[in-house]
Amino acid sequence: MAHKTILITGAGSGIGKESAFALARRGHRVIATTHTQEQSDALAQEAAKNNLVLDSFKLDIAIPEDRELLKKYPDIDVLINNAAIGESGSLATVNMNTVRSIFETNLFSSLELTQIALSNMAQRRSGTVVFISSTAGRVMMPFLAPYAMTKFALSGGAEALRGEMRILGTGVHVSLVEPGAYHTGFNQRMIASQQGAVRERLEAFFKLLEAQSTTSIVRCIVRAAESKNPKLRYIAPWWQALGVRILRILGK
Ligand SMILES: NC(=O)c1ccc[n+]([C@@H]2O[C@H](COP(=O)([O-])OP(=O)(O)OC[C@H]3O[C@@H](n4cnc5c(N)ncnc54)[C@H](OP(=O)(O)O)[C@@H]3O)[C@@H](O)[C@H]2O)c1
Repeated sequence: MAHKTILITGAGSGIGKESAFALARRGHRVIATTHTQEQSDALAQEAAKNNLVLDSFKLDIAIPEDRELLKKYPDIDVLINNAAIGESGSLATVNMNTVRSIFETNLFSSLELTQIALSNMAQRRSGTVVFISSTAGRVMMPFLAPYAMTKFALSGGAEALRGEMRILGTGVHVSLVEPGAYHTGFNQRMIASQQGAVRERLEAFFKLLEAQSTTSIVRCIVRAAESKNPKLRYIAPWWQALGVRILRILGK
């Protein structure tokens, strides 16, 4: 297997951190970027403790100057857009500025970062862009729309970009990894603003669904990053992937 230079966003915690470590363990050169400088320092320390070599720096994808840092790395083979924020609430009442800011991070910032990486990849006529979307971007759940709508948009955009890269003959691959529910703390933070019956409903939903280990989704991310011809979609855990397929066949 050829070793690659892989940059991942939001690698300070959760699935991003586990993926960065897994890719470094497999011998890739990993550039694990984080939301804050503190996360970057902690990540570097944890990597060193585990005898792993990785570069790390703060890259807040919502800050244009931070995104520009990508220009210092013209040799990136794989960009993994993992950074994201979540929020819940009813579309009947949610503050639209909140929704706008989630779109700003999860969709627009990820796409703007991707455009920088793509210009280098297209010049080199090779590369892979992986978007970490969500099964919440395939099947809509009441009270999760402020977050889920951004993932629907991201999944749709990634599919379009994949077709465009093929038609334009750029040699660049675009892939989606769509995690089901995993217990990283992301979902609990996302529903923390809710109260009463809505909060109880969402808590019960995640308690029932969340996979405790991120191993299955990290495996998907590694596959998408390493493949010479990555699939459009990687979904895990398998039983949630099956659930999504059934719900979509039923027209949900
Ligand atoms: N866990 C799940 O059930 C689940 C399901 C489907 C999809 N996903 C997706 O999987 C990805 C990773 O989520 P996770 O579960 O591992 O949660 P997580 O630990 O919260 O990971 C998200 C990371 O993104 C960072 N981030 C947020 N805003 C950022 C910004 N502007 N610039 C750079 N980094 C930023 C976060 O930093 P802070 O902690 O400082 O905010 C955090 O380190 C996300 O795209 C999420 O939507 C997760």
